[in-house]
Amino acid sequence: MDNKDINIEDRIDSLLAMMTLDEKIGQMTQVRHFEEIPEDAISSGAIGSIIHTEGPLPGSDAASWQATFTSLQKKALSSRLGIPLLFGVDAVHGQNTYNGATIFPHNIGLGATRNTQLVEKAAEITAVESKATGFNWVFSPCVAIPYNEKWGRVYEAFSESTALTEEMSRASVKGHQGRRLDQNSIMATAKHFIGDGATDNGVEGGDCSLSPQEVKERLLPPYQAAVDEGVGAVMASFNSMARLPMHANKYWITDVLKESMGFNGIVVSDWKGYSRFGENEIINAGIDMVMAVDGDFEMYREGLKAGVENGQVSLARIDNAVRRILRQKLRLGLFENPFPDAGLIAKIGIQKHRNVARQAVRESMVLLKNQDKILPLDKNLGKIVVVGEHADNAGLQSGGWSIHWQGSTENYTGSTTILEGIKRLAKGEVIYDIDATGDHEDADVAIIVIGETPYAELFGDIGGEIDAYQLTLSEEHQRYISTYVEKGIKVVVLLISGRPLVTTDQIDRSDAFVAAWLPGSEGHGIAEVLFGAYHFKGKLPHSWPKSVEDYQGKYGPNFWDSSYAPLFPFGYGLEY
Ligand code: GLC
Repeated sequence: MDNKDINIEDRIDSLLAMMTLDEKIGQMTQVRHFEEIPEDAISSGAIGSIIHTEGPLPGSDAASWQATFTSLQKKALSSRLGIPLLFGVDAVHGQNTYNGATIFPHNIGLGATRNTQLVEKAAEITAVESKATGFNWVFSPCVAIPYNEKWGRVYEAFSESTALTEEMSRASVKGHQGRRLDQNSIMATAKHFIGDGATDNGVEGGDCSLSPQEVKERLLPPYQAAVDEGVGAVMASFNSMARLPMHANKYWITDVLKESMGFNGIVVSDWKGYSRFGENEIINAGIDMVMAVDGDFEMYREGLKAGVENGQVSLARIDNAVRRILRQKLRLGLFENPFPDAGLIAKIGIQKHRNVARQAVRESMVLLKNQDKILPLDKNLGKIVVVGEHADNAGLQSGGWSIHWQGSTENYTGSTTILEGIKRLAKGEVIYDIDATGDHEDADVAIIVIGETPYAELFGDIGGEIDAYQLTLSEEHQRYISTYVEKGIKVVVLLISGRPLVTTDQIDRSDAFVAAWLPGSEGHGIAEVLFGAYHFKGKLPHSWPKSVEDYQGKYGPNFWDSSYAPLFPFGYGLEY
């Protein structure tokens, strides 16, 4: 512990000695901004953190977002001890709640790049644009190891590979926080601890039945990497582990994460994480701060205070939780510099940032088929037909957690679409046949962009035991492909999806097939690779399924189960 850390611990000791129980519980309380809370809640020290998520925006532009959070911060500073607030946001692929921010490919695409420097740079830019909109905490990166494409959050994670996820997690935490958590950082959060992507049948919040040994070998290393990198927070997961909900799992949160792994930051609950257990159980399990949202503010505070007064929760546990929260606020320099830097506003969405995101788009693309080397396309082709609603819609190319929690189906500020990118590079005629009903028998090639519509969290779940037929393409999108194949036109398919899908037939029928994941705002990076300005570099971060039968067990095809012969293995990807 260096002098700075010793000074911080001394400052915590003196604050703790002055704090009332109400003020201590206040630090352990996170509410949603614009939540219905008592007028004096912040100025009386009853709140330690504010979360911005789906719902009213803090304002019309970054300056008004900063002003909103500054006024809330001033209320906190006016409290008896003047402890500043943490402001948290789900900036999971850029500051994606802000219309106009640079939106990166989701983590599954970043995993396909295998480029740790690029991932670190993306996190640095996300940190700048998140701070520019008033935040000092992001609930990212998700370091899950997805076992089953039936899970609705595969795209939030980097890969099925533990080793690749470890590397990416380390780079992401370093990009967000810098070499150490300090006044230049935005605090990162490794989530969701633990087993979120390894539940039986990929059910969000389901039960993970892996053995403790398998959890330690396969799911824990990315958390150790994040802890070693100094990650400021870890978020508990909705799933249960061997039937015990993670939020109340003292063994994994306290004994393993805090004591064995040495994590000295904040364990934050997920949304209303106490709902499956009471607030006292989850605090005793080791959770330090709770998302007491949607009207639960008073219930949570009163329940926890009663728990302390009746001895169910020890004062030592409360003090340890508050110590961890104050430690991060002091490391972030919030006591000396509690307000956002207005000078950062001009950096939101600048071309330099977008160029990095466009590089990530290019390097995330995985070439699964290239028959007769139809790719790269000749820019001078006489007539290119572009098909599919995903070709000209920034919302569809960005997936969930983009502008809105469940994503958008509209273009948004600063974005470019895949079609715009093709038109920018092609010298010949480019026709947009959105639903493959056009009469373009004379086209030289059809670029058919199909895939998933945006979803987030459980809305992306295929659903437990049921057949994985939803992991195939829609009838409409299958028709787009067959229409042009049956015209005898060369077909290049771009799949926009948050996960591998069962596309064996479509791959067989196409001349070229590219997994483009969820590229984000810089859609024109796609065309730069299709026309050969850049090479394909992406490699599969997941095993690719052959058929829906691959999902008859608890998990999908992944390299943990050698009995599977996926259509394409983890790490597969063709090059020019
Ligand atoms: C959600 C998600 C979590 C997110 C949190 C705050 O339920 O599970 O990833 O960070 O709530 O929005």
